[in-house]
Amino acid sequence: MDHRTPRTDDAVDIREIAQGEFSAVAELAVRLLSADRDELAALYAATPFALRAAFASGQPIGVAYARIDGEKYAPLAGLAVIPERRRSGIARRLLEGLEHTVFVERNYRGSTFWCPRDPAMEGLLVSAGYDVFNLEIEAGADIEVREEEVRRLGGMIARRKGDSAALQFHLRAYDPERYDHLGRCYHATRSRLRFSKVNTRLLMTDDEALAFLRAIESGEVTLISRWGDPAAQNGPFPYDASNGWEIWVFNDVGEWDYVDEIRAPDGRYTGFDQSLAIEHYEPSPEVIERAYGFPAGAG
Ligand SMILES: CC(C)(COP(=O)(O)OP(=O)(O)OC[C@H]1O[C@@H](n2cnc3c(N)ncnc32)[C@H](O)[C@@H]1OP(=O)(O)O)[C@@H](O)C(=O)NCCC(=O)NCCS
Repeated sequence: MDHRTPRTDDAVDIREIAQGEFSAVAELAVRLLSADRDELAALYAATPFALRAAFASGQPIGVAYARIDGEKYAPLAGLAVIPERRRSGIARRLLEGLEHTVFVERNYRGSTFWCPRDPAMEGLLVSAGYDVFNLEIEAGADIEVREEEVRRLGGMIARRKGDSAALQFHLRAYDPERYDHLGRCYHATRSRLRFSKVNTRLLMTDDEALAFLRAIESGEVTLISRWGDPAAQNGPFPYDASNGWEIWVFNDVGEWDYVDEIRAPDGRYTGFDQSLAIEHYEPSPEVIERAYGFPAGAG
C-alpha cells in the first residue's frame, strides 16, 4: 500500500492580491515576518504587483513581496508560508511569481534578498538559482574575530557562490588568513546573508561585448567621454560610443583600470562583475591613450 500523503499544493491559488484581501494578507505578513503593516500598505499602494499571496479555501497561507523602487536590483523583502503548509512547493511558486514580475515584466537586472541565516530559506533560494553573495555582520555582533574593525563597525564580507559550504570554501581558497576569521563570522548568530540572482535575459554575450571592444580598438567605433578628461578623476568613468552604446571604464586616478560595464541601447549589459572575458580584457597602451583619452603610459 502506498502511504505517501498527496501533495497539498494543488488547491492553492497563488497570485497578486485583490484590494479587499490586503488586510488578511498584511495580518499574515505581520504574524509570520513581523512586517510593518504601514510599510506594507504603502508598498501595496505604490506597487500592487509587488505583493503576492497563496490562498487556500479563501484564506492567505503564504505571502511574498518585493521593493520595486527603480534601482537596478529589486530587493525581495519578505517570503513566508504558514508552518502547517510548508514543504509543498508554495514558497517556490510564490518566488517564481515575484521573479516573473521583477525579471520579465519590470526588466530588473536581478533580485537580491537579505535574510537572517535560516536553513529553509537558504535551501529554497540556493535551489532557485540564487548565489550567496555577501555576509553582513551587525555592528557589535558577538563574534570572535581578529580584525578589530569588523567587530567594531560590523561589515560586509564578499563573496560568492552557491551554498554556505561553497562560500566558506571560496573564502578559504581566496585567502586563508581571512577565511579563518570569516569562517567563524559565518557562524555568528546575528548575521544576515545577501542572496542574489542575475536576470540572464539582460546579459550580453562575451562575443558581442568583445566585438564592440575590438571595434573601439580599430577606430571603427569612437568614444566621447561624458565627463571630460579622465586625468585626475577616479571611479567608474562613462563614454558614449558612436554606435549608440555606452561603456564605463574604471578610472584609477587617471589610470585605465578595467571595463566596468558595457550597455547596449536595448538594456542588455555586461561588465567586470558579469564576465571573466571582460574582467581580463585590457587594451594596448596605444588604444588606452588614443581611444579612451587616458594620459600616455597609464593603464
Ligand atoms: C522558507 C520558507 C518560506 C519555505 O517555504 P516552503 O513553502 O516550505 O518551501 P517550498 O516547499 O517551496 O520548498 C522549496 C525548496 O526550498 C528548500 N527548503 C524548504 N524548506 C527547507 C528546509 N526546512 N530545509 C532545507 N531546505 C528547505 C528545498 O530545496 C525545497 O525543495 P524540496 O521540497 O523539493 O526539497 C518557510 O520555511 C518559511 O516561511 N520560513 C519562515 C520565513 C522566514 O523566516 N522568513 C525570513 C526571511 S524573509
